[in-house]
Amino acid sequence: MKKFAVVGNPVNHSLSPVIHQQFARQFDIQLEYTKIQVEAGEFQNVVNTFRHQGGAGLNVTVPYKTDAYAISQQLSTSATLAKAVNTLIFNAESIKGDNTDGTGLVNDLIHNHGFNITNKSILILGAGGAVSGVLGPLLIQQPQVIVIANRTVAKAIDLQQNFSHLGSIIGCGLDQIKSLKFDLIINGTAASLAGQTPSIDIDLLKDVQFAYDMMYASEATVFMRWAQANGVEWVADGLGMLVEQAAAAFEIWHGVKPDTRQVLIKLRA
Ligand SMILES: NC(=O)c1ccc[n+]([C@@H]2O[C@H](COP(=O)([O-])OP(=O)(O)OC[C@H]3O[C@@H](n4cnc5c(N)ncnc54)[C@H](OP(=O)(O)O)[C@@H]3O)[C@@H](O)[C@H]2O)c1
Repeated sequence: MKKFAVVGNPVNHSLSPVIHQQFARQFDIQLEYTKIQVEAGEFQNVVNTFRHQGGAGLNVTVPYKTDAYAISQQLSTSATLAKAVNTLIFNAESIKGDNTDGTGLVNDLIHNHGFNITNKSILILGAGGAVSGVLGPLLIQQPQVIVIANRTVAKAIDLQQNFSHLGSIIGCGLDQIKSLKFDLIINGTAASLAGQTPSIDIDLLKDVQFAYDMMYASEATVFMRWAQANGVEWVADGLGMLVEQAAAAFEIWHGVKPDTRQVLIKLRA
């Protein structure tokens, strides 16, 4: 039986084992998928031990996506662009790193929500690991512009510089957002985790059709409730992104594409 796991800290809340087992059932694939909590400084040891015990692959979550990037001997294009890895593939010769967060978000927006990204103006709040992971796949869809606004302005500017060869992208501070008309606003900050809403001018929501929070919870997140209270009727959380990034990792590991819709319905229930 092939062995997989998700590594991170904290990792106890992770839905990845449930999702991967449900995908596996669709193809009668037998696999072991566990959660491994990794303490600070232990990432490399944990990966080496797992690999030497016959592990076939790992999903990597906060705060180890950059460490996973650093230990990868081969990198996919999306991992190279993101400078972060959320999926490790082990074989006898090497460790390969991939990043499926962007594919997950794009597939969720387009296929689960029916939101067409092409020619749209997008405002993204936050400039951390999740945002750097999604920018490449989002820009490939050729939006009109992506504005990244972050509390630490330098990080938003860095992302602008790293991704400007792929399309129109502007990095700025949360209080410097140009008064453009945005079709989609994505919350990629960790503010929701602390129950906080972004401190941006609410006039920016005036023309927004869709407000998407990368965070997910059993009920509407604070960002979703804030957007609705300010006139955006169409809101969603990031559970679909989670399931879609898992599906992309599953396809990399097993060579088959799972049906995500039935898994999402089960998780929502
Ligand atoms: N659905 C999914 O599959 C999925 C996948 C990955 C991540 N996520 C979610 O995405 C979010 C971001 O994750 P990450 O990995 O990018 O985290 P990260 O690398 O730690 O980055 C956190 C970002 O949030 C900003 N931030 C934190 N607290 C804030 C506050 N109170 N006000 C304004 N900005 C604040 C940070 O700004 P500074 O740069 O100024 O510190 C930074 O831009 C989390 O909610 C995570 O759960 C979801």
